[in-house]
Amino acid sequence: MQAKAREVYVPPVLQDLRAGTADLHIALEKRLPFFSDALDIQAFQRLMQAYYGFYLPLESALLDSHCIPADFDLTPRLKTATLHGDLQALGVADEAINRLPICSQLPQINSGASCLGILYVLEGATLGGQILRREISARLGLEADNGAAFLDVYGAATGRRWRDFMEYLGSRPMDADERKAVVAAAHTTFSCFERWLESREVLA
Ligand code: HEM
Repeated sequence: MQAKAREVYVPPVLQDLRAGTADLHIALEKRLPFFSDALDIQAFQRLMQAYYGFYLPLESALLDSHCIPADFDLTPRLKTATLHGDLQALGVADEAINRLPICSQLPQINSGASCLGILYVLEGATLGGQILRREISARLGLEADNGAAFLDVYGAATGRRWRDFMEYLGSRPMDADERKAVVAAAHTTFSCFERWLESREVLA
């Protein structure tokens, strides 16, 4: 008898998130310069400075919001400190890091659902990081210890942590309105990030 392929259960909220943000992901991916021949260390440094200017206020806003679901452990998923370490490794002085422009147009955080939509985007970005990490290593010789730790922020645990996040999302009881709020927050996170990167002139 032929073995039947195991069907993977995709929770409704994840189906909605994928349907609601796939176009934004494709558009942003196309404009990011990771694969550009013009990307040198200086351009990579500017790009990571722009990332820092988004992740810092967004992670701070999540922490200050008091909306993170009580059973969700945000601390081990924070990535600003890793970006900070990368900028230092790339030779950016602490005073310069402290003076970097910071994004103020952030997604609204007013519920557990909005936190989860934002986290979907920030956690999902670690998956693409696995491809980008190899590219930046080959192109610029940067690895986790000399300026590109952010691209491999979860290391060998990347897949497991993404599966844990999806499992968490799928295990939360959510009605249709909450699912809509999760998707709206993810959508806004993608567009705020793209607008911010555009304003920092680091996109193609
Ligand atoms: C050139 C840059 C990027 C590339 C090449 C890339 C590539 C990828 C790939 C290949 C996946 C699927 C991985 C898998 O299914 O195992 C993925 C998933 C994802 N990426 Fe990206 N990505 C990039 C940038 C970003 C950025 C900047 C963000 C958000 C800020 C992002 C958010 C996501 C999300 C949310 C998912 C999860 C989709 C899902 O399975 O539900 N990506 N990316």
